[in-house]
Amino acid sequence: MVDDKTLVAEAISARERAYVPYSHFAVGAALLDANGKIWHGCNIENASYTPTNCAERTAFFKAVSEGASNFVAIAIVGGAAGKPISDWCAPCGVCRQVMREFCSPQSFRVVLARTPDEYKAYSLADLLPEGFGPDDLERASCNHEQH
Ligand code: THU
Repeated sequence: MVDDKTLVAEAISARERAYVPYSHFAVGAALLDANGKIWHGCNIENASYTPTNCAERTAFFKAVSEGASNFVAIAIVGGAAGKPISDWCAPCGVCRQVMREFCSPQSFRVVLARTPDEYKAYSLADLLPEGFGPDDLERASCNHEQH
């Protein structure tokens, strides 16, 4: 099985592909699925700013669009482009919500690193308490059908 240190190393190499001409803040992500496959992502910015995609969402959208559906963990690293990482980079709220769409809040692990050897893990539930997900809509539509 892929351990956290390996997943962090994969995120660090994914970060090298970040396209960040505006923020100069390079992020890398490595998403592990239940088959042991690692999906890589980097942030991809845009001159029009809003189309910018975070590294985490790049990894998720690559994976989901290729048929992956069962996710175990994601490692995330970020910091000034062209320099080694030296501080934690936590996922933005939008990316937490995308994780909530495809992952179990209790079991999905989010691994943050500030060096290749210094990392810490959270559950998605830690990072997105009382989140709103697909099950909430499902429950509402069941109630609707009863009336
Ligand atoms: N960014 C990510 O890719 N992931 C995060 O978790 C935080 C922010 C990106 C978006 C933008 O390209 C740059 O970092 C600065 O916000």
